[in-house]
Amino acid sequence: MAILVTGGAGYIGSHTVVQLQNAGYEVVVLDNLVNSSEKSLQRVEKITGKKVPFYKADILDREALEVIFSKESVDAVIHFAGLKAVGESVAKPWEYYNNNIAGTLVLTDVMRRHGVKNIIFSSSATVYGDPAFVPITEECPKGQCTNPYGWTKSMLEQILSDMQKADPEWNVVLLRYFNPIGAHKSGTIGENPNGIPNNLMPYITQVAVGKLKELGVFGNDYDTHDGTGVRDYIHVVDLADGHVKALRKIEEKAGLCVYNLGTGTGYSVLDIVKNFEEANGVAIPYVIKDRRPGDIAVCYADASKAKKELSWEAQYGIRDMCEDSWRWQSGNPNGYED
Ligand code: NAD
Ligand code: WQD
Repeated sequence: MAILVTGGAGYIGSHTVVQLQNAGYEVVVLDNLVNSSEKSLQRVEKITGKKVPFYKADILDREALEVIFSKESVDAVIHFAGLKAVGESVAKPWEYYNNNIAGTLVLTDVMRRHGVKNIIFSSSATVYGDPAFVPITEECPKGQCTNPYGWTKSMLEQILSDMQKADPEWNVVLLRYFNPIGAHKSGTIGENPNGIPNNLMPYITQVAVGKLKELGVFGNDYDTHDGTGVRDYIHVVDLADGHVKALRKIEEKAGLCVYNLGTGTGYSVLDIVKNFEEANGVAIPYVIKDRRPGDIAVCYADASKAKKELSWEAQYGIRDMCEDSWRWQSGNPNGYED
């Protein structure tokens, strides 16, 4: 029986394929490569020494999905496939709702037709909006999202939850990721954003490697210890392990479950700059800019539910995250391009 990983060529997906194969799972990857390269999977094969069966396909393509589910004996789906750029989602809402929501509706329809009713879904701390309290527990009310990307996550959580309530044969695990950074220790797979990065860590690593001049720090007047925004950064390998643990939960009949995947510790933008500089001996010049519209001051997890129910807990600290992000970027200045 295989685990189908949609979006498995992407940043979190490729790391999860490594952890799944290392844990002994048979894995099949589906990705349309809209934001990734097949080279990531070749590198995964080098890390694990195992083949990664790959289908270049779109989750909106019902016929392609029918072929995959007919040929492969799929037991569960880990569903990463989706568009994730916040700013782009504001400019192209229809494309985001279509890709993420319509795509998931097609995927889950084909799944149920083939009797596959186990899914782990990539949600996000963004569903909490400006959180009602920190640290954020899963009981924290979902909030107003500030962009269509966030709404796709919030709406898909609702859709998958309603499906599970209507048909309890479904096992649905919603994983709310906080801020994934870092890379596999080999330095051969990592985050590979198109164009100028939107997220903090890839921006810092591109400054460090000389591709960008300086970091713009978006606001230093938040109500935080140094005025800059605080987030819960989590090592992508820890995040990947959370999916392996979630699969075990599905094997025990999960029903409907939701978990925060974070470390429980918040770091400010300037904390990250300092840790990166100290960990790697590279200076990161920065300038203070205006706040970025839609940003919140503070966001960090209470991850105790995942610890209690999944026996999952983040293992890596901020130094590892900074070192591993830099090992990937410095060894692959152009990502997967030669
Ligand atoms: P990513 O862009 O690296 O990976 C997503 C993958 O999905 C890409 O390989 C892309 O080619 C593929 N894809 C997109 N649309 C597709 C479609 N219609 N059919 C088939 N494949 C498609 O992003 P990531 O950072 O690895 O994120 C993985 C998932 O986790 C996404 O759903 C994202 O929204 C979610 N998430 C990411 C973060 C983060 O900060 N990286 C935080 C919370 C949640
Ligand atoms: C982190 C901090 C910025 C860039 C986003 C999405 C969220 C989730 C993860 C998917 C903030 C500051 C950033 C820069 C900066 N994705 N910053 N200069 O905004 O917490 O979350 O990615 O679900 O939905 O919104 O992450 O890395 O963009 O920002 O000062 O060039 O770094 O203001 O305080 P964010 P981020």
